Amino acid sequence: MKIGIFDSGLGGLNIARSIHQLIPEYDSIYLGDTMHVPYGNRSSEMIYKLTERAVTKLFAEDCKLIVIACNTASAKALRKLQQEYLPQYYPDRRILGVIVPTLETAISLKVKKIGLIATSYIVDTAVYTEELNKLDNDIEILPVATPLLVPLIENDGHKWVKEILSDYLKNIQDKNIDSIILGCTHYGILKEVTQGILGDTIQVISQDEFIPIKLKQYLNNHNEIEADLNKDNKYQFLVTDLTSNYQDKASAIFGRKIELVKTNI
Ligand code: DGL
Repeated sequence: MKIGIFDSGLGGLNIARSIHQLIPEYDSIYLGDTMHVPYGNRSSEMIYKLTERAVTKLFAEDCKLIVIACNTASAKALRKLQQEYLPQYYPDRRILGVIVPTLETAISLKVKKIGLIATSYIVDTAVYTEELNKLDNDIEILPVATPLLVPLIENDGHKWVKEILSDYLKNIQDKNIDSIILGCTHYGILKEVTQGILGDTIQVISQDEFIPIKLKQYLNNHNEIEADLNKDNKYQFLVTDLTSNYQDKASAIFGRKIELVKTNI
């Protein structure tokens, strides 16, 4: 069986790449819902529906464990999938998200005032604040919605990113933050530009650096899941809509040429 990695689009390839780097032996399937990206401006109902469909596809493709790399999908769908969907349809399989692991990582870095850039959905629902309060009441989080960043990244708009990101960050720059969470799959590629804008004293917390470590720890602690995983270093990349532009972009994000395959879900 395989590890599934799900994202609303191609940004999650950034996470897939770092998972492959850390634990290359595990067979995996990446699924990017390129037909419906971005999720971050959609309604709750639609985000859940699209995420459940994607998860169902990955389970049908023989995934034992799915990492929902998309913050927006994790925020909306993870709990319901874990508490209602899995027990009903796949009681012996697992789904992991990215929000709690991100907050645990931030806490371990001993930060006290965290900035957060994320989609409008993440900021409007205050999911990071809510989850943080359950873990540590002494840490403050200041979220900023950055809805233009994903369309810019997905549409070759890199030359405008710095200017637009600087403008968004003005909202929190004078608030004495000591760190910033890049709370979106796509933002891993904005690490340097974010550091450049905020300066070296601000810790940039990027999911591609620790989600693979958390996954590895999970597999070490869950032999019953790990034992079922194939270890033949085989990776597949599925998307719900495919153009030659997506192919090029996927290879650019992944860091080497990869073959996307269109799938119907
Ligand atoms: N992948 C989404 C996330 O991590 C961002 C892109 C989107 O809005 O779909 O939140």
